[in-house]
Amino acid sequence: MNFDIKTNSYLPEQCGYAARVKALLTEREVVNPKAHIVTFGCQQNVSDSERIKGMLCLCGYSLTENIEEADFILFNTCAVRGHAEDRVYGNVGATKKLKQQNKNLIVAVCGCMAQQQSVADKFYKSYPYVDIVFGTQQYHRLPEFIYRRMTTKRVYELGLDNKEIVENIPVCRDGTLKGWLPIMYGCNNFCTYCIVPYVRGRERSRAPEEIIKEATEMVQSGFKEIMLLGQNVNSYGLGESHGINFAKLLRMINDIEGDFRIRFMTSHPKDCTEELLDTIRDCKKVERHIHLPFQSGSSKILKQMNRRYDREGYLRLIKAARSRMPDVEFTSDIIVGFPGETYEDFCETLSLVKEVKFTSLFTFIYSPREGTPAAIMPDPITREEKGRWFNELLIAQDEISEQLNNSLIGKKMRILCEEYLGDGLYSGKSEYYSSVTFSGTPDMFGNFVTVRVDEYKNNTLYGTVIN
Ligand code: SAH
Ligand code: SF4
Ligand code: F3S
Repeated sequence: MNFDIKTNSYLPEQCGYAARVKALLTEREVVNPKAHIVTFGCQQNVSDSERIKGMLCLCGYSLTENIEEADFILFNTCAVRGHAEDRVYGNVGATKKLKQQNKNLIVAVCGCMAQQQSVADKFYKSYPYVDIVFGTQQYHRLPEFIYRRMTTKRVYELGLDNKEIVENIPVCRDGTLKGWLPIMYGCNNFCTYCIVPYVRGRERSRAPEEIIKEATEMVQSGFKEIMLLGQNVNSYGLGESHGINFAKLLRMINDIEGDFRIRFMTSHPKDCTEELLDTIRDCKKVERHIHLPFQSGSSKILKQMNRRYDREGYLRLIKAARSRMPDVEFTSDIIVGFPGETYEDFCETLSLVKEVKFTSLFTFIYSPREGTPAAIMPDPITREEKGRWFNELLIAQDEISEQLNNSLIGKKMRILCEEYLGDGLYSGKSEYYSSVTFSGTPDMFGNFVTVRVDEYKNNTLYGTVIN
């Protein structure tokens, strides 16, 4: 746990509420108040939860892994697929019993699912033990919401006004080696299957000086890997007068003094420029890995998805990257069974996977999201059929991963020693995407070590430290 109280100069009004919450907790004799946070969804949510934890610490709560002892429980939710939503209702429902045992317990629901009016209404009306429901652009007001709940009524705040970004929210980071750094919020792309633009609002980029300040603080406090976050990092700075695009931002972060590594996600192919590829090649601290979701290998389906590139354009991009960096690794997201997709269309996805040879894939069966254009497109293929295509894709990728991993044997890699597995074994990621397991010593933990890859077995690369 790394509570960054240094940056605690955020909204004075909210700091005032936090102080009042703290005083009320003491007055009500809530001894050592504890908060438990459950986070669903993507890294954006994980990063938001780190700031939510920061604000809770400011209000006097300490964090607990044990939901049973919590005085404050928050669910940070995801709406990207139906499956993600189903899990939340069960989890929230289980707090009813806890509320009967602890009269001071406050239950809050936020995040992308709560941002949808119909869902927020359901939480508010059908779950009377949910005290606070708030949307994705209201996080910074959490101290105020808690104070209002403690003194008056339940809170329901969904405002999505796309105003400027609130900076200097205290952050309580989950790790001490690898940290998230949001550079932009929201999305303007409106891919026809996707709920994100509706629940996260329009793209807003953080000011470059704020990002550099936060990155510098992270490096100075010992972070060895910074993951730049955004739904479409490649469109960073669009529409801003400072003229700093994502490539320039990467160069600026690369220039920060210190031994650390820069990762980023997610890159949208339509905004991946030659300038960006040159920058990735030139900047020593930037990983040699691009997460570049292509979603479908069929140009017809890509058009219906409103992705604004086609199969050929995507393959050209892969070629352009490999001509600059022959060993660059790619990962991708794929949707199987988009409405109207035929087996022939799916075979184009399969052939693209075989052609590009991604290190790893994040594959999803299409899930209709209410309010998106795709949700009302005819979708005649059954779930079972889509499941068969999906399995075909997994089998093909397993074979490719096996080949790629075997081709790494003998290579030297610079690994951030980031996890102790027990029995003297450590593991970590290279400047590419791969993880390697090796015998090490405690002094290696948290540092970069050079490892030679010896073998690939049981889906794991094993290596030997050579420095
Ligand atoms: N902004 C990122 C991705 C955000 S969502 C990007 O554009 O790449 C992460 C992934 O979830 C998407 O890339 C997509 O593959 C998947 N996804 C989004 N909506 C989906 C839906 N309705 N059904 C299935 N998968 C979906
Ligand atoms: Fe969704 Fe497309 Fe935006 Fe990604 S780029 S968040 S898939 S709308
Ligand atoms: Fe889910 Fe919201 Fe992320 S919908 S994937 S948590 S942006």
